[in-house]
Amino acid sequence: MARILVTSALPYINGIKHLGNLAGSMLPADVYARFQRLRGHEVLAICATDEHGTPAELAAAAAGQDVAQYCDEQHEVQKALGERFNLAWDHFGRTSSDWNMRLTQHFAETLEANGLIAEVVEKQVYSIDDARFLPDRYVEGTCPNCGFEKARGDQCDNCGKLLDPIDLIEPYSAVSGSKNLEVRDTRHLQLRQTEMEDRIRAWVDAAEGWPPLAKSIAYKWLDEGLRDRTITRDLKWGVPVTKDGAPREGFEDKVFYVWFDAPIGYISATAEWADATGNDWESWWRTDKGADDVSYVQFMGKDNVAFHTVSFPATILGSQEPWKTVDKLKAFNWLNWYGGKFSTSSKRGVFMDQALELLPADYWRWYLTAYAPEGGDAQFTWEHFQGVINTDLANVLGNFVNRILKFAASRFDGVIPEGGETGEHEAWLAGEVDQRLKAIAAHYEAMEFRKAGAETRALWAAGNEYLTRAEPWSHFKTDKDKAAVGVRTGINLAVLSAIVAQPVIPETAAKILDAVGVPEGNRTWPSDAGAVLLDALPRGLGFAVPDVLFAKIEDEQIAEWSERFGGAV
Ligand code: MF3
Ligand code: ZN
Repeated sequence: MARILVTSALPYINGIKHLGNLAGSMLPADVYARFQRLRGHEVLAICATDEHGTPAELAAAAAGQDVAQYCDEQHEVQKALGERFNLAWDHFGRTSSDWNMRLTQHFAETLEANGLIAEVVEKQVYSIDDARFLPDRYVEGTCPNCGFEKARGDQCDNCGKLLDPIDLIEPYSAVSGSKNLEVRDTRHLQLRQTEMEDRIRAWVDAAEGWPPLAKSIAYKWLDEGLRDRTITRDLKWGVPVTKDGAPREGFEDKVFYVWFDAPIGYISATAEWADATGNDWESWWRTDKGADDVSYVQFMGKDNVAFHTVSFPATILGSQEPWKTVDKLKAFNWLNWYGGKFSTSSKRGVFMDQALELLPADYWRWYLTAYAPEGGDAQFTWEHFQGVINTDLANVLGNFVNRILKFAASRFDGVIPEGGETGEHEAWLAGEVDQRLKAIAAHYEAMEFRKAGAETRALWAAGNEYLTRAEPWSHFKTDKDKAAVGVRTGINLAVLSAIVAQPVIPETAAKILDAVGVPEGNRTWPSDAGAVLLDALPRGLGFAVPDVLFAKIEDEQIAEWSERFGGAV
């Protein structure tokens, strides 16, 4: 049994996340965590809201709320939505927690003691009309790299380039729109990443469990050459800057940069979990306290990779303390909305709360996992979504399970029948199932969600194929034993199909397993698929027929949703 720590990029507090956010970090993290739990491993799944920085302040201001109160409320909203999507976190914490403040200050002070922090005077955009500095997203303007006109001061949403607010062309204040800006000097702390370039590169070189997308992005940054990075901001909301445990002189009106404290949130949320449950967080995070045998897996969108492969490691490695670093890092491309982008600011696309108004979580979970934006960017369209749900879930899985259980209920009195000998069809099926199950597990291990989805669907399809071959209905009158074998095998296969579907569609899988009366303890990943298939369920066991598992999506619904959410850009 291994110990596996799973984290997903911490969602910004500013508003409900759209399906693209869900598909690129939180959902695959959950699917992976659930898979590893089924395999019998000890899994700790951690997430949290990322509550500091300009996104939080600006969103609170737009909502006309005090930022702390805004964060309290939005944290609860996001937590509840995550739970309704069945994201089975062990803990969903907050980067505004006490733990995160203490650990962030600890890292900064330790880095300074190691000579990796410099106090510098920097040029910053100052808004005369707003009477304040405008860090990061407080200033917008034209991207110097691609010419996009609504680039934010910290990053261009169009080309992805990280920016410095003073580089923007024709900048204006995001607070007031004022163009009455000037550049002023202000004091800041810099993390001297240039000093650590070799160590970080060596660490990336040694990383083995990173799929190509993550590794190539990491090298792109390293090859461009690291820059010293300012880790403080002229903001009120955030982790206060300290020195020797006391407020740092000259930094009373400043806080740490959100990207400095946010990833530390992975550690602090684990500590919050430990406090709440009486567990030991250090055994997950300190290699001197037992974490050397932990396998740590991170999930994130591609825009987050640089922060996780360069910046956060600079914090961790620079501390020279025995912290656990990531072992496997899975990055995702974008899920696009009809060729354009999902966008929180322009409310384009479907958001987590809206999605659940339309259909239960499992429909979305299947679509977003089995068609994840993995090899490249993926497109969401209503038509594609409809096709996938109706084929994979309604026709292939739903139809198979209902067909076999209904027939068995009417012809074999609702119990698993006795009698009969297995033959060529069962042998074929056993081979098929064994191969599929191994493939599914291998794909999950490699964090290849599309491939795992395709194999899962193929396993379900084998169910229908088996019934077509074994034809229990046509044997029923002439050879009841033969029909009994078909029914028994079919129901065992339905159970197996549900067991391996649990990571992706946990609610429906539970419905099937409950109907057939499979005890909790027998729902783990089967080590011997063939044996399970042919004889897992006790003969004579009574079962129920679940209601229709998946309703088909009708053309009228697609028309209505396209109308409501827009479609083509
Ligand atoms: N909130 C960031 C985003 O949505 C992700 C933060 S990940 C963490 O892009 F490492 F900082 F936690
Ligand atoms: Zn750009």
